Amino acid sequence: MKLFLDSAIVKDILPRVKSGLISGVTTNPTLIKKSGRDPLDVYRELSHDVSDISMEVVAQDLPQFIDESLKLSDYFGDIATIKVPCTDIGLKTCKYLANRGIRVNVTLVFSSSQAILAALAGATYVSPFVGRMDDNSLNGLGLIADISNIFQKHKVDTQILAASIRDTQSVARAFGLGANICTIPVKVFDGMSQHVLTDKGLDQFDHDYMASVKN
Ligand code: E4P
Repeated sequence: MKLFLDSAIVKDILPRVKSGLISGVTTNPTLIKKSGRDPLDVYRELSHDVSDISMEVVAQDLPQFIDESLKLSDYFGDIATIKVPCTDIGLKTCKYLANRGIRVNVTLVFSSSQAILAALAGATYVSPFVGRMDDNSLNGLGLIADISNIFQKHKVDTQILAASIRDTQSVARAFGLGANICTIPVKVFDGMSQHVLTDKGLDQFDHDYMASVKN
Protein backbone atom coordinates (compact mmCIF):
# COMPACT_ATOMS: atom_id res chain seq x y z
CA MET A 1 0.00 0.00 0.00
CA LYS A 2 1.64 3.22 -1.20
CA LEU A 3 0.67 6.84 -1.74
CA PHE A 4 1.93 8.95 -4.63
CA LEU A 5 1.33 12.68 -5.05
CA ASP A 6 -0.42 13.73 -8.25
CA SER A 7 1.12 17.14 -8.82
CA ALA A 8 3.89 19.07 -10.57
CA ILE A 9 4.14 21.92 -8.05
CA VAL A 10 7.54 21.32 -6.47
CA LYS A 11 6.95 23.58 -3.46
CA ASP A 12 3.77 21.61 -2.62
CA ILE A 13 5.38 18.21 -3.18
CA LEU A 14 8.69 18.44 -1.31
CA PRO A 15 7.45 19.21 2.22
CA ARG A 16 4.96 16.36 1.97
CA VAL A 17 7.57 13.94 0.61
CA LYS A 18 9.68 14.80 3.66
CA SER A 19 6.89 13.35 5.84
CA GLY A 20 8.14 9.91 4.72
CA LEU A 21 4.59 8.89 3.79
CA ILE A 22 4.86 9.50 0.04
CA SER A 23 6.53 6.94 -2.25
CA GLY A 24 6.35 8.69 -5.61
CA VAL A 25 4.94 11.45 -7.79
CA THR A 26 2.79 11.29 -10.91
CA THR A 27 2.67 14.14 -13.40
CA ASN A 28 0.82 14.68 -16.67
CA PRO A 29 0.94 17.45 -19.29
CA THR A 30 -1.97 19.30 -17.65
CA LEU A 31 -0.34 19.25 -14.21
CA ILE A 32 2.96 20.41 -15.75
CA LYS A 33 1.14 23.25 -17.56
CA LYS A 34 -0.46 24.31 -14.24
CA SER A 35 3.03 24.53 -12.71
CA GLY A 36 4.02 27.04 -15.42
CA ARG A 37 7.39 25.31 -15.79
CA ASP A 38 9.26 23.16 -18.28
CA PRO A 39 8.71 19.46 -17.54
CA LEU A 40 12.44 18.70 -17.39
CA ASP A 41 12.97 21.45 -14.81
CA VAL A 42 10.20 19.99 -12.65
CA TYR A 43 11.63 16.45 -12.89
CA ARG A 44 15.18 17.67 -12.20
CA GLU A 45 14.14 19.53 -9.07
CA LEU A 46 12.08 16.61 -7.77
CA SER A 47 14.76 14.05 -8.60
CA HIS A 48 16.84 14.89 -5.49
CA ASP A 49 14.03 13.82 -3.13
CA VAL A 50 11.63 11.58 -5.07
CA SER A 51 12.66 8.09 -6.16
CA ASP A 52 9.76 7.38 -8.54
CA ILE A 53 8.43 10.10 -10.88
CA SER A 54 5.92 9.30 -13.62
CA MET A 55 6.93 11.37 -16.66
CA GLU A 56 4.36 11.40 -19.45
CA VAL A 57 5.61 11.06 -23.01
CA VAL A 58 3.76 12.98 -25.73
CA ALA A 59 4.61 11.85 -29.26
CA GLN A 60 3.08 11.27 -32.69
CA ASP A 61 4.33 7.82 -33.65
CA LEU A 62 6.07 4.75 -32.24
CA PRO A 63 9.68 5.74 -33.09
CA GLN A 64 9.12 9.14 -31.47
CA PHE A 65 7.49 7.57 -28.39
CA ILE A 66 10.44 5.22 -27.97
CA ASP A 67 13.00 7.94 -28.62
CA GLU A 68 11.44 10.37 -26.10
CA SER A 69 11.02 7.60 -23.53
CA LEU A 70 14.65 6.49 -23.83
CA LYS A 71 15.87 10.10 -23.52
CA LEU A 72 13.98 10.47 -20.22
CA SER A 73 15.08 7.07 -18.98
CA ASP A 74 18.75 7.69 -19.89
CA TYR A 75 18.76 11.14 -18.28
CA PHE A 76 16.88 10.32 -15.05
CA GLY A 77 17.78 6.65 -14.65
CA ASP A 78 15.79 4.59 -12.16
CA ILE A 79 13.85 7.63 -10.92
CA ALA A 80 11.94 7.78 -14.22
CA THR A 81 8.73 5.89 -14.72
CA ILE A 82 7.71 6.40 -18.33
CA LYS A 83 4.03 7.21 -18.62
CA VAL A 84 2.28 6.28 -21.86
CA PRO A 85 -1.39 6.33 -22.85
CA CYS A 86 -3.32 3.09 -23.20
CA THR A 87 -3.38 3.17 -27.01
CA ASP A 88 -1.98 0.79 -29.60
CA ILE A 89 1.24 2.84 -29.86
CA GLY A 90 1.40 3.39 -26.10
CA LEU A 91 1.17 -0.36 -25.46
CA LYS A 92 3.85 -1.12 -28.06
CA THR A 93 6.08 1.48 -26.40
CA CYS A 94 5.35 -0.15 -23.05
CA LYS A 95 6.36 -3.59 -24.31
CA TYR A 96 9.58 -2.21 -25.81
CA LEU A 97 10.56 -0.39 -22.61
CA ALA A 98 9.48 -3.19 -20.25
CA ASN A 99 11.66 -5.66 -22.19
CA ARG A 100 14.60 -3.37 -21.38
CA GLY A 101 13.76 -3.23 -17.68
CA ILE A 102 12.32 0.30 -17.77
CA ARG A 103 9.33 1.02 -15.50
CA VAL A 104 6.18 2.00 -17.39
CA ASN A 105 2.93 3.52 -16.15
CA VAL A 106 0.09 2.91 -18.63
CA THR A 107 -2.29 5.81 -18.11
CA LEU A 108 -5.79 6.86 -19.20
CA VAL A 109 -7.20 3.42 -18.41
CA PHE A 110 -11.00 3.18 -18.35
CA SER A 111 -11.72 -0.54 -18.77
CA SER A 112 -10.59 -3.96 -17.57
CA SER A 113 -9.63 -4.93 -21.11
CA GLN A 114 -7.22 -2.00 -21.29
CA ALA A 115 -5.73 -3.03 -17.94
CA ILE A 116 -5.25 -6.59 -19.22
CA LEU A 117 -3.36 -5.33 -22.29
CA ALA A 118 -1.21 -3.06 -20.12
CA ALA A 119 -0.31 -6.04 -17.93
CA LEU A 120 0.51 -8.18 -20.97
CA ALA A 121 2.70 -5.36 -22.26
CA GLY A 122 4.72 -5.58 -19.03
CA ALA A 123 3.56 -2.35 -17.39
CA THR A 124 4.80 -1.78 -13.85
CA TYR A 125 1.71 0.35 -13.15
CA VAL A 126 -1.72 0.55 -14.70
CA SER A 127 -3.63 3.76 -13.96
CA PRO A 128 -7.44 3.57 -13.95
CA PHE A 129 -8.95 7.08 -13.68
CA VAL A 130 -11.53 6.76 -10.91
CA GLY A 131 -12.75 10.38 -10.80
CA ARG A 132 -13.07 10.82 -14.54
CA MET A 133 -15.16 7.64 -14.73
CA ASP A 134 -17.43 8.91 -11.95
CA ASP A 135 -17.71 12.25 -13.80
CA ASN A 136 -19.15 10.29 -16.71
CA SER A 137 -21.62 8.23 -14.66
CA LEU A 138 -19.34 5.17 -14.74
CA ASN A 139 -18.25 3.21 -11.67
CA GLY A 140 -14.62 4.21 -11.12
CA LEU A 141 -14.11 2.24 -7.92
CA GLY A 142 -15.93 -0.71 -9.50
CA LEU A 143 -13.21 -0.77 -12.16
CA ILE A 144 -10.53 -0.94 -9.44
CA ALA A 145 -12.34 -3.97 -7.98
CA ASP A 146 -12.66 -5.65 -11.39
CA ILE A 147 -8.99 -5.18 -12.30
CA SER A 148 -7.89 -6.31 -8.86
CA ASN A 149 -9.98 -9.46 -9.16
CA ILE A 150 -8.49 -10.30 -12.57
CA PHE A 151 -4.90 -9.53 -11.52
CA GLN A 152 -5.21 -11.61 -8.34
CA LYS A 153 -6.72 -14.62 -10.14
CA HIS A 154 -3.96 -14.60 -12.74
CA LYS A 155 -1.12 -13.60 -10.40
CA VAL A 156 -0.31 -10.50 -12.43
CA ASP A 157 2.65 -8.44 -11.19
CA THR A 158 1.43 -5.14 -12.66
CA GLN A 159 0.40 -2.82 -9.85
CA ILE A 160 -2.92 -0.98 -9.83
CA LEU A 161 -2.28 2.73 -9.43
CA ALA A 162 -5.66 4.33 -8.71
CA ALA A 163 -5.60 7.78 -10.35
CA SER A 164 -7.92 10.75 -10.71
CA ILE A 165 -8.85 10.49 -7.02
CA ARG A 166 -10.64 13.56 -5.68
CA ASP A 167 -11.53 12.76 -2.05
CA THR A 168 -10.18 10.97 1.01
CA GLN A 169 -12.95 8.35 1.11
CA SER A 170 -12.07 7.16 -2.38
CA VAL A 171 -8.48 6.56 -1.24
CA ALA A 172 -9.60 4.18 1.50
CA ARG A 173 -12.12 2.48 -0.76
CA ALA A 174 -9.61 2.07 -3.61
CA PHE A 175 -7.11 0.40 -1.27
CA GLY A 176 -9.90 -1.74 0.17
CA LEU A 177 -10.84 -2.90 -3.32
CA GLY A 178 -7.29 -3.89 -4.20
CA ALA A 179 -5.43 -0.82 -5.48
CA ASN A 180 -1.69 -1.11 -4.71
CA ILE A 181 -1.10 2.64 -4.96
CA CYS A 182 -3.30 5.74 -4.90
CA THR A 183 -1.99 8.88 -6.55
CA ILE A 184 -3.65 11.88 -4.97
CA PRO A 185 -3.64 15.68 -5.11
CA VAL A 186 -1.93 17.40 -2.15
CA LYS A 187 -5.33 18.60 -0.90
CA VAL A 188 -6.53 15.01 -0.56
CA PHE A 189 -3.26 13.97 1.15
CA ASP A 190 -3.63 16.82 3.67
CA GLY A 191 -7.25 15.85 4.28
CA MET A 192 -6.38 12.26 5.15
CA SER A 193 -4.98 13.16 8.58
CA GLN A 194 -7.91 15.44 9.47
CA HIS A 195 -10.85 14.44 11.62
CA VAL A 196 -13.18 16.68 13.59
CA LEU A 197 -13.25 14.19 16.47
CA THR A 198 -9.43 14.15 16.60
CA ASP A 199 -9.44 17.96 16.94
CA LYS A 200 -12.20 17.85 19.56
CA GLY A 201 -10.50 15.06 21.53
CA LEU A 202 -7.16 16.86 21.41
CA ASP A 203 -8.68 20.09 22.72
CA GLN A 204 -10.11 18.16 25.65
CA PHE A 205 -6.83 16.33 26.35
CA ASP A 206 -4.84 19.58 26.19
CA HIS A 207 -7.30 21.24 28.56
CA ASP A 208 -7.28 18.34 31.03
CA TYR A 209 -3.49 18.05 30.93
CA MET A 210 -3.08 21.72 31.80
CA ALA A 211 -5.60 21.30 34.65
CA SER A 212 -3.74 18.33 36.14
CA VAL A 213 -0.13 19.56 35.91
CA LYS A 214 0.85 21.00 39.27
CA ASN A 215 4.02 22.94 38.36
C1 E4P B 1 -2.72 10.29 -12.90
O1 E4P B 1 -1.70 9.82 -13.26
C2 E4P B 1 -3.38 11.43 -13.57
O2 E4P B 1 -2.39 12.34 -13.89
C3 E4P B 1 -4.39 12.12 -12.70
O3 E4P B 1 -4.72 11.33 -11.59
C4 E4P B 1 -5.58 12.66 -13.43
O4 E4P B 1 -6.45 13.24 -12.50
P1 E4P B 1 -7.68 14.19 -12.93
O5 E4P B 1 -8.72 13.34 -13.57
O6 E4P B 1 -8.15 14.79 -11.65
O7 E4P B 1 -7.13 15.20 -13.89
